[in-house]
Amino acid sequence: MKIGFFELEQWEKDYLADKMSALGEVAMIDSILTAENLPTENDFEIISVFVNSIIDARVLDHLPNLKLVVTRSTGFDHIDLDLCKSRGVAVANVPSYGEDTVAEYTFALLLNLSRKVHLSFDRIRETGSFSLDGLRGFDLKGKTLGVIGTGRIGRNVIEIATGFNMNVIAYDPKPNAEYAAKMNYQYLELNDVLAQADIVTLHVPYTEASHHLIDAESFQRMKKGVYFLNTARGPLVDTMALVGALRSGQVAGAGLDVLEEEGVIKDELNVLTSGKLEGHDLKAVLADHLLVDMPNVIVTPHNAFNTWEALKRILDTSADNIKNFVAGSLSNLVN
Ligand code: NAI
Repeated sequence: MKIGFFELEQWEKDYLADKMSALGEVAMIDSILTAENLPTENDFEIISVFVNSIIDARVLDHLPNLKLVVTRSTGFDHIDLDLCKSRGVAVANVPSYGEDTVAEYTFALLLNLSRKVHLSFDRIRETGSFSLDGLRGFDLKGKTLGVIGTGRIGRNVIEIATGFNMNVIAYDPKPNAEYAAKMNYQYLELNDVLAQADIVTLHVPYTEASHHLIDAESFQRMKKGVYFLNTARGPLVDTMALVGALRSGQVAGAGLDVLEEEGVIKDELNVLTSGKLEGHDLKAVLADHLLVDMPNVIVTPHNAFNTWEALKRILDTSADNIKNFVAGSLSNLVN
């Protein structure tokens, strides 16, 4: 079978080379796979991509032999699942590799916000001043953390929060009562979590149904001075509404590893010069820029998954997904 890996770094190519050697012709390609970045080869039967690749009709049209898409991620909102299904293309993901990794990162963002570490660091670097002016923070102990989505990552966030002696409340349409009893947290309706939390953190998959799960009304329901974290997916949040809530002081600070339209903001020059602006929300791109410039907002480049341990787990599972498919069995299918 002809296999194409996209978005690979050199160490990943080296790591995969042995694992893939018996499976046929394998191309290891540095660039992303999108309609604007189509490979010259078009006879791949299996492709493996990361979240910056967009698998839509134009990409699928270019790859008529395609049978399997293996995404090296948990989320799969960058792949048109229905279209893949209708064309008989299976899609597999890596359901768990980073539950500790992303949960730890959530607290990296939270502790930076709560203790103004980013501002302290910038001040000394940029001015040489050791003044504490404006750098007073707050304790996490005793604060109420509202966890939206108590799947693998959300549950790890709850464990870490417990270590900080925080109170936890949570919302999930499929609550895990046994775990809640064990970890001593309470499930509430979404609006009640939003109203009672000092810090709200999102750990929900992005789907059509969860688009703008957090909108202007949601921010209004929150406590004045709430802190807001998103390490899940950008379009879960109405970005303009978040900008408004930060400007009014309704939200005191935000830690965002993901942004609506992060694909565009990462590569604006390319998007502009390729002229492919249709389907993108340019208002959200502008709002992203406003967020990046706010001192009480930490924006990071979709980095929460990015540890050596997590990446090796991702490559191992992705290689297994491909090996299993070649051997006639399917693993970690999402469509
Ligand atoms: P999971 O599938 O284990 O858990 C998701 C939970 O969200 C489930 O319990 C589900 O019932 C719940 N849920 C679904 N819709 C909901 C809604 N509308 N409101 C509240 N809860 C809802 O997923 P996991 O592993 O915890 O990952 C969560 C998300 O984190 C992924 O879908 C992915 O988008 C994101 N992620 C981000 C990474 C990063 O680098 N920033 C890395 C890995 C995942």
